[in-house]
Amino acid sequence: MKVLIVGGSGGIGQAMVKQVQETYPDATVHATYRHHLPNDRQNNIQWHALDVTNEAEIKQLSEQLTELDWLINCVGILHTQDKGPEKSLQSLDIDFFQHNLTLNTLPSVMLAKHFCHALKQSDSARFAVISAKVGSITDNRLGGWYSYRASKAALNMFLKTLAIEWQRNMKHCVVLSLHPGTTDTPLSQPFQQSVPKGKLFTPEYVANCLLPIIANATPAQTGCFFAYDGTELPW
Ligand SMILES: NC(=O)c1ccc[n+]([C@@H]2O[C@H](COP(=O)([O-])OP(=O)(O)OC[C@H]3O[C@@H](n4cnc5c(N)ncnc54)[C@H](OP(=O)(O)O)[C@@H]3O)[C@@H](O)[C@H]2O)c1
Repeated sequence: MKVLIVGGSGGIGQAMVKQVQETYPDATVHATYRHHLPNDRQNNIQWHALDVTNEAEIKQLSEQLTELDWLINCVGILHTQDKGPEKSLQSLDIDFFQHNLTLNTLPSVMLAKHFCHALKQSDSARFAVISAKVGSITDNRLGGWYSYRASKAALNMFLKTLAIEWQRNMKHCVVLSLHPGTTDTPLSQPFQQSVPKGKLFTPEYVANCLLPIIANATPAQTGCFFAYDGTELPW
């Protein structure tokens, strides 16, 4: 089995790399990082530097990895050094909104575009992306977080549309949108005080939950949005 984990240096990404390697010791595992390789890295992982906002770099990597069974994208942002998710409309900023689309939506679009040939070689292909429940339009009861919500809703729409296209020409490939639950990583760090007790998960727990969902998904489930506990979420 050949697996590519994009954003393998992030909180959830690193845990996914570890979990895939432990669960499938014979798998060839490739992982990407942006600037720094993780300190705590396992042997036998093939690391590649990749800025997911750069289509030319994605294309170049896809020309190196021409056969893949699974691609899992763990890249995303919620805040930058000087901007966080909006509490109200008045704090909406065009650059921050576009930054959310650039990191949370477009990378999966470009990864699907350039890695479809590699996934086409597999008879049990998976294209799985870590999205977020706050991208669910139906589930939005609290408001706020305009840019992050909109970028994840756009990501979900892209994945649903991709699943429909690939059902026609890549029937074996299962496309999944996944919600990890609130996970203890740098992304959630500024917002962890308000998380109810027992609801802040370790990245290891989340990877342990998500991996079987990816592994056991059937072609009939392509284009679905699943939470870490296996429940199907509404769009
Ligand atoms: N943590 C949560 O509570 C939570 C909840 C719901 C959904 N999610 C989703 O889960 C996913 C993973 O988040 P996380 O919690 O693991 O966050 P994280 O620890 O901050 O990891 C984010 C990853 O994105 C990478 N990244 C950012 N910009 C990049 C770029 N231009 N090119 C390549 N990689 C880039 C980071 O690389 P560098 O470290 O090199 O910058 C890092 O590997 C995100 O999509 C997030 O929206 C997380």
